[in-house]
Amino acid sequence: MEKIIVANWKMNGSREFVMEFFKNFNNNTANQIIFCPPTLYINTVKEYVSLIGGQDCSVHNSGAFTGEISASMLVDVGCRYVIVGHSERRQYYQDSNEIVRAKAEQAINSGLIPIICIGESQEIRHSNKAIEYVVEQLSASVPLNKHANYLVAYEPIWAIGTGLTATSDDIIEMHNAIYKALPNPTTPILYGGSVNKDNAYTILSLPAVSGVLVGGASLRSQDLNHIVAFSEQAML
Ligand code: 13P
Repeated sequence: MEKIIVANWKMNGSREFVMEFFKNFNNNTANQIIFCPPTLYINTVKEYVSLIGGQDCSVHNSGAFTGEISASMLVDVGCRYVIVGHSERRQYYQDSNEIVRAKAEQAINSGLIPIICIGESQEIRHSNKAIEYVVEQLSASVPLNKHANYLVAYEPIWAIGTGLTATSDDIIEMHNAIYKALPNPTTPILYGGSVNKDNAYTILSLPAVSGVLVGGASLRSQDLNHIVAFSEQAML
């Protein structure tokens, strides 16, 4: 099975950064990665790669919602995917499960494939309630239509940007619980949280992992080249 790599650039970059990045990025593998740059740079990134995703979308399709970007606009500029429910959105912009579900449904209705993020805090992990919490969050965040097409990304909050990663056993346990709770057990499940060139191979080799969602390391083209190379080896 081909492993999926998603590069979430978050609110980083500039036009100059994009040009520099792709000078050092191995273009042979460019089309195996879904790049999620800041919305303003989608067009610039599109000059180099074809698989693009937004980092968020509105629950509305159009109208008087200043500052918002709709799923259909993302489609219009060439996106095929959109991340919804990232923990930074849930934490800083109060995106509840209900909102995440509405965003995912908007994305699907507009022709995008949502990447629905879920994950527990350190506190929940320590109280041994991580599985219960994540499964509940999942059930409340995915579209109500059981045949909807989407990806799930398990990103433990305590592993995001911290250099800490979940252990292989924890990832396997959580991904298996997620598979069991999904209406379609072939839905891909990605892992995210401090994935880098040193741990990517181990994580990508796990059969329960369909791919990785990479933040910080995806801003370094050489690191991303390594991660993609590992994803090919992990498939063998
Ligand atoms: P880091 O890889 O920087 O930990 O970020 C993970 C993430 O949030 C990807 O969406």
